[in-house]
Order: sequence, then C-alpha cells, then structure tokens
Amino acid sequence: MTPLQENERYKFYLGDCMSVLKQMDDRSVNCIITSPPYWGMRSYDNGSDVHEIGNENRFEQYVSALTEIFDEARRVLKDDGSFWLNLGDKYVDKALLGMPWRVAISLIDSGWIMRNDVIWHQLKGTQSAKDRLRDSYEHVFHFVKSKKYYYDADAIRIKPSKLPVIDAEATTSSTGVSGKKYRRLIAESTELTEQEKANATKALDEVLAEIRSGLVNDFRMTIRGAQRTWHSDDVKISGRAKELVNRGYYIMKIYAKGHLPSDVWNIVTEDTWRTDKHCAVYPEELLRIPILATCPEGGIVLDPFNGTGTTVSASLKLGRKGVGIDLSPEYIKTSKDRIANNGTLL
Ligand SMILES: C[S@@+](CC[C@H](N)C(=O)[O-])C[C@H]1O[C@@H](n2cnc3c(N)ncnc32)[C@H](O)[C@@H]1O
Repeated sequence: MTPLQENERYKFYLGDCMSVLKQMDDRSVNCIITSPPYWGMRSYDNGSDVHEIGNENRFEQYVSALTEIFDEARRVLKDDGSFWLNLGDKYVDKALLGMPWRVAISLIDSGWIMRNDVIWHQLKGTQSAKDRLRDSYEHVFHFVKSKKYYYDADAIRIKPSKLPVIDAEATTSSTGVSGKKYRRLIAESTELTEQEKANATKALDEVLAEIRSGLVNDFRMTIRGAQRTWHSDDVKISGRAKELVNRGYYIMKIYAKGHLPSDVWNIVTEDTWRTDKHCAVYPEELLRIPILATCPEGGIVLDPFNGTGTTVSASLKLGRKGVGIDLSPEYIKTSKDRIANNGTLL
C-alpha cells in the first residue's frame, strides 16, 4: 500500500510497526526519523499484547529486534532517502551499556551507511549518582541507503550575522577590510584615468553596500598598478588580468552563503509538562535539520515509533508530509489531537 494517498498530508497508523511497514510499498517515503523506546527504560502501557520494543529480557534481543525493523524500513525508504535515529544509553549494574553504538554497529553491519553521529547536547541533565558525571547528551545517528542521497546543504547553512554598520566609510568586511585603503589607492593612482577612478569608486561603494546588506561577507580589490597581483598577468590566461587592463580594477567577492552546522546540537529537552504520560517526547527543534536537509519539500517523513506525533507535526510545519505508526491507541489519539491543535500537545 502507499503510505499516503495523493490528497493526504499526514496519516497515523495504529499497530505494530513491523506489521505496518511490511504492508508499505518499496521506496515510498523520503525520510525516516524516529526514537524507539530505550531498552528496559520504561514500559509503555499500550493496552495490547503486541511486542513492545524495549521490553526484551536481554539487550541483544533489543538490538536484533530494532535491526530487523529498520531493515524493513530501509525497503520502504527511497534509494536517495535518509534515516535519523535518536537513542539514549543505559546503565546496568553500574556499567554503561553503550547501547546507541551497539544498535548503530548492528545497522552498519546490516547494510546502512552511517553519515553522522550527532551529539544532541541537552544542556541540562539530572541524576543522583555521586560517583560519575552527569549525563547530558544523546545520539542522533544519520544513516543513508546509498552513497548518493538527497541533501540540501543550503537549507541548513548558518548565515553569518549581519555586520555592524556605522557609516559607509566605517563598514568593514568579516576580515576587517574597509573601503578606506582602496579609496585612497584609487585617488592616488597615476595609472587610472579620471573616468576609471570614478568607475572604480562606484564599484567599491556598491560592494560596501552589499556587505552592509549581508549579501557579501568579504572582498578584495585589485587596482591597476597599485598592488602586486597574485594571478597571472597574461590577459590570455587570466580573466582578472583582462579586467585590470580593460577597466583598471578587479573585485573578488566572497558571498555570505554561510557554513554548515556542526555535529553537536545544543537543544533543550521538552518541558516535563509536555512529557506525555510515559512517553519521552523529543523537541521539534531536533528535527529541523534532518527534515530541511534530507526531505525535499512536499516529501514524506515516516516515524515508525510515533509516540505523540512530534515527527509528523514538525514535518507539516516545514512543508513536508508525515506518517506515524504506533501501537498505542492512546498515543495515536494524542497525535491526532496535536495536529488539530497546530502541533501543540494538550
Ligand atoms: C520514545 S516513544 C516516541 C516518542 C516520540 N518521538 C515523541 O516525540 O512523542 C516510543 C513509542 O514507540 C511505541 N512503540 C513501542 N513498540 C512499538 C512497536 N512494536 N510498534 C509501534 N510502536 C511501538 C510506543 O508506544 C511509544 O509511543
């Protein structure tokens, strides 16, 4: 079956995720983002006798159950799709299990390609143990199905903040270049004609205006006869040399496209009052980068462990479609109410 009909923007399926996934068509979703129950952390009261992930007696069983589910999810994922998995760790008899990595390595062994291990730094952390440090992060692993995959880097770039503007003369680029020196070089030039000087000054004013507006981040200006050139002087080889001969100046601009976020994300956890019943709700902000970078607009994001519908809610807000699966009728109802309330959990 197709997870969503043409005219649908979202859908919640009640049931065991393995059984529901098995019914879904091959390559029918663009992106999967999920946070399964952590092993042995808590028992979700789902009122059904379906196998609930996290309740296995041995952690090896948990790892293999998740690996099987995500193998099935890989079939449902488009070939250029991404899978983001949030997992937390657990101590048993004082020993940290390394559970996120146990699952991650099992997924790598079963054919997933890992692209990032994101550290979700939760900025706070509570615990009572006095003989070790406070836990303050969880992992968000990014997996892909094939080496070539959809990734819109420009959608998540961090733009440099606009540079302070005092007046045109005091404007400086990100590396502190102001127009002052170039203005003087133009004025004192014995190589440029009066017309070329006027043109060069106008071009300098224009690039400074672009710096003020945030479009350009940095620039360098070369004026004929005023500085040593670092490119070939041969006009046949270098376009810059040609511009110097023809116009008397050359401006190199660095556009303010911005840089990519790092793999450490500082995002506070959901407020406790929104931690519905027993379900560990993740914040919608955690899903912003995964959705914007790895699901095209109008594409489908799937969460096989839907909980309160955070993934579907965030996807809709960012112009994508959402599909959630959960075996708890209560959480399915909570999710539907949430979407009806514009993403707010009641
Ligand atoms: C950690 S919660 C997900 C929370 C979610 N990310 C949110 O923000 O609300 C895990 C969910 O997986 C569901 N679950 C556990 N085993 C399942 C299974 N076999 N099939 C489908 N859902 C399952 C639980 O009912 C629970 O709602």
